[in-house]
Amino acid sequence: MTSVSPNFRTDDLGECKIASPLRATRFMDTSKQLLFRADIDELRAQFRAGVDPPAFELAGPRESIYFNPGTLKCGIVTCGGLCPGLNDVIRSIVFCLQEKYGVAKVYGFQFGYEGLAGQSALTPIELTTRRVTQINEVGGTVLGSSRGPQPVDEMVDTLERLGIQLLFTIGGDGTLSGAHSIVEEIRRRELKIAVVGVPKTIDNDISFIDTSFGFDTAVEAARHATRAAYVEASCHRFGIGLVKLMGRDSGFIASFATLADTQVGLCLIPEIAFSVDGVVRAASQRIQQDGHVVIVVAEGAGQNLLAEASERDASGNRRHGDIGVFLKDKIPEAFRAQGIAVTLKYIDPSYMIRSLPANARDANFCLRLGHGAVHAGMAGKTDMVIGSWRRRLTHVPIPAAVSSRKKVATDGYLWQTVLSVTGQDDDLLSSVTGKAEPALS
Ligand code: F6P
Repeated sequence: MTSVSPNFRTDDLGECKIASPLRATRFMDTSKQLLFRADIDELRAQFRAGVDPPAFELAGPRESIYFNPGTLKCGIVTCGGLCPGLNDVIRSIVFCLQEKYGVAKVYGFQFGYEGLAGQSALTPIELTTRRVTQINEVGGTVLGSSRGPQPVDEMVDTLERLGIQLLFTIGGDGTLSGAHSIVEEIRRRELKIAVVGVPKTIDNDISFIDTSFGFDTAVEAARHATRAAYVEASCHRFGIGLVKLMGRDSGFIASFATLADTQVGLCLIPEIAFSVDGVVRAASQRIQQDGHVVIVVAEGAGQNLLAEASERDASGNRRHGDIGVFLKDKIPEAFRAQGIAVTLKYIDPSYMIRSLPANARDANFCLRLGHGAVHAGMAGKTDMVIGSWRRRLTHVPIPAAVSSRKKVATDGYLWQTVLSVTGQDDDLLSSVTGKAEPALS
């Protein structure tokens, strides 16, 4: 079947015996792989030990395919939180299936896995190139979305009933875990149905994928918020602009938004611990220096400071306390206790960012991801997602992609650059750094 390193070996339904109908295409040499790690010392050590370094299978059109496009029926489902570019991916999949491969039927399931489950009264929408041609101009997903699992047997019953042999699932780790459960049920029933994912996470937190679609748009949009925060903060004596950005467990949007706007003086992410005193101390240092400070906080940061939330969302994720609102109250309070009246303006652009259409870079990326997913699916690849690694599209097995959440490495290049640009102390715990100095004048 495949010859990639055991870590990233993807599954498929069987031998590809049908000549691809694609024209004017450079087919992907299926023996080509992309190294996971590019560190030369690591590679030398692996070669010396006789170990094949982990490598990804490269995405792209195959010369021979598994499915007969003339009889193939496909399905698309979008699940989880919204993200810029969802409609671009749907559009790209539909166009590639119908215009490039000549697949006749493509169904869109409504409102996530709910639309796939048997109890649902939601009828699948028939998708055509004509129907989806302009959907990329708006944000959100034309199919609708929902969180949470649905009975797997019912979902596979629906696929069987409609004769769908290739399902595209667009979603984050919950959706991908759901897709894997669908694959397991398909295997149990010994069916020939392929499931291919396109990873969607505005938080950019899926493992073995360097960037996910929508992230670039999110960072770009976040900059409007940090700019506004800067203008507000800089126009007030002891001004503070506080911006809360998405990032449930990983601070990628906050970190990149900070690097995109060097006016940000303090960046708080879930990966670092801080105390209110530590934040106030860092903010007062920056106010002393510049007269104002812009603070960016990721929604999942500082959860230890808030009462532990017991609630979970339908995907099973713990509902975080609102760190933005907490800091909006606590920071001025702490300054007040030192006799300093700060002016704090709070901006939470989360849903305004998430619901935007994709920017040019993401639109381009989504188009390629959609094509990659279709090429993989037509070749009978299953239980895998289209990844992106060092600017190449790859195949990543779903179990690997959902094995852990990707986090900002605090000793890595990204976070170290954030520290260098903001000038913030890498320890914002007051127990270590001491109490805030009331040194403002
Ligand atoms: O999809 C990830 C995400 O955007 C997180 O950053 C955020 O915590 C979550 O979705 C919120 O989504 P919702 O409000 O739709 O549950």
